Amino acid sequence: MRSRGFKPSVFYNRRIQNEINLASMDYLYKQCHYININVAVLLERGMEMEKSLKDKKILVVGGSSGIGLAVAKFVYKLGAKVVIASRSAVIRHDALVGDVGERIQTVSFDIASAHEIGSLLDAMRKIDHLVIAVRPDIKPALFQETDFDSAREAFESKFWGSYRLIQAAWNQINPGGSIIMTTGIAGEKVFKGSSTMGIINNALETLCRSLAVELAPIRVNAVSPGFVEPKSREVQERALQFPIQRLATKEEIARAYVYLMTNDYVTGTTMVVDGGARLI
Ligand SMILES: NC(=O)c1ccc[n+]([C@@H]2O[C@H](COP(=O)([O-])OP(=O)(O)OC[C@H]3O[C@@H](n4cnc5c(N)ncnc54)[C@H](OP(=O)(O)O)[C@@H]3O)[C@@H](O)[C@H]2O)c1
Repeated sequence: MRSRGFKPSVFYNRRIQNEINLASMDYLYKQCHYININVAVLLERGMEMEKSLKDKKILVVGGSSGIGLAVAKFVYKLGAKVVIASRSAVIRHDALVGDVGERIQTVSFDIASAHEIGSLLDAMRKIDHLVIAVRPDIKPALFQETDFDSAREAFESKFWGSYRLIQAAWNQINPGGSIIMTTGIAGEKVFKGSSTMGIINNALETLCRSLAVELAPIRVNAVSPGFVEPKSREVQERALQFPIQRLATKEEIARAYVYLMTNDYVTGTTMVVDGGARLI
């Protein structure tokens, strides 16, 4: 409330106004200065990220299609030496060279075979980052209707395959290196017909946290994708309900792997990239 008898003069008002203007100019100048510094820092960090993967050896198991292929393409562009291992990788070598680039190496490899794990690692020697993005051959089915052998095979490749591969590979990982597994939304949220994938994903996330402690200083993380393109019309329509209102692209998922490879302070983490799908 204005005090009684107070009559602000025009001069007084102008003086205040000038002071305010000068203060705002100074404030704005400082903000621009900070913004410029922040832009410079961001650019520098981007370049550091690029530099930190240059010439690093990255083994992408399950890199011949889908999310693994998107990771292979991304890290290749950042200058990494990329090895793609999967059952069909060698047969698809030319197509993969076309997709990713000339400098890739491909290895024929079945993660469910203990023998093939040994041969892959003998050929590999040292690795900087190990990415596992293998999809087991299992169709969604209600628990009562799930074929036990299919469920066991899915565990054999995605869970036991990752377990056995990491157990054999961890001491071939260079200092500063990391391991990244792939889990999925079926571990975050319950969907009818996805109990087997849910258990496998949860088991891998528990393994991730344990290994971050036991294999330190090697960093161990996981990426949990939501629903990734392409999907049926029904799933696309369901995606409209997600906070981000659409399916993920493979590239958006791949960025999480690059972040986990390049941030030296992150370990034992499952990075969820699901457009908020788990929240609704
Ligand atoms: N796409 C999604 O919406 C989604 C959502 C949540 C979680 N995920 C998880 O993300 C991971 C990748 O899924 P994706 O959709 O990218 O799958 P994808 O396109 O089917 O690719 C799977 C990759 O795994 C390889 N693979 C399968 N069995 C293998 C084995 N026994 N040994 C070695 N490699 C094998 C395949 O190559 P070969 O056939 O040549 O062996 C292929 O390179 C999976 O773990 C999946 O559960 C995916």
